[in-house]
Amino acid sequence: MDAERVPPGIDPTKAHPSRRYNYWLGGKDNFAVDRESAEMVASAFPTVGLAARENRAFMRRVVGYLAGEAGIGQFLDIGTGLPSAGNVHEIAQGIDPSARIVYVDNDPIVLVHARALLTSEPQGRTAYIDADLRDPEKILADADLRRTLDLSRPVALMLVATMHFITDDHDPYGIVRTLLGALPSGSHLVMTHATGDHLTPEEYAVNVEANERSGVPFRLRSHDEFARFFDGLELLPPGVGSVVEWRPEEPAEDRPAVEDVSMLCAVARVP
Ligand SMILES: C[S@@+](CC[C@H](N)C(=O)[O-])C[C@H]1O[C@@H](n2cnc3c(N)ncnc32)[C@H](O)[C@@H]1O
Repeated sequence: MDAERVPPGIDPTKAHPSRRYNYWLGGKDNFAVDRESAEMVASAFPTVGLAARENRAFMRRVVGYLAGEAGIGQFLDIGTGLPSAGNVHEIAQGIDPSARIVYVDNDPIVLVHARALLTSEPQGRTAYIDADLRDPEKILADADLRRTLDLSRPVALMLVATMHFITDDHDPYGIVRTLLGALPSGSHLVMTHATGDHLTPEEYAVNVEANERSGVPFRLRSHDEFARFFDGLELLPPGVGSVVEWRPEEPAEDRPAVEDVSMLCAVARVP
């Protein structure tokens, strides 16, 4: 994007997670500051672009599973990112045209492009809420959310590649607990999260430092720290593991190495 012609409300001088992710996915909705931040992270973790693509592929598989086999007709997708091929509503409504999807993000650039998320099938419904995950009560009280989702019926809460932007001072476990507290039995939690578990202590330190320099607050979490988000829920097979290995469609020999992706995932049912 041209930093000379910036839509109102957009800051082209500070790196933003959605625009940086868009760069890693090969998109054009990013500024020089985002690309510099992306390259800084890539200097410490060169396969970060692969990680972004594998994360997106997981999201496609999991929405297909939930809308199909699991029969979930409602999705609350927080940390949506810029619209991209295969948005949640396109996948879900491709299986169940009556599916209802609420998207939430706090980045003004996602709001600018939100129209692409509102192309619902006539039988279903989509909404976009410009809100911050760190204020979950506000999201739950939002009139558009209440109009779109029936919270007496199961909802899939999607926090895909989003919780690693919530640092410990913002009570990440409390946020997830609050959101799940509003959802009935049979709802599902879907989460992916970057991990440093496969790094040596030296590599870990280099990654933390590169993330700090990149201008985007970021928290790598270990397998156990990630698993804590699912306390009290019923994990679906294969449990907590790499996005690469969650109901894969490719034979093992064609899949990337788990270490090169370093993205944990799990899907669990609210009892
Ligand atoms: C890496 S993108 C992931 C996009 C999409 N979920 C996916 O996996 O393809 C993370 C998104 O989370 C959003 N995000 C980060 N912190 C947030 C917050 N506090 N509230 C709402 N959204 C947030 C960013 O703006 C960004 O769009």
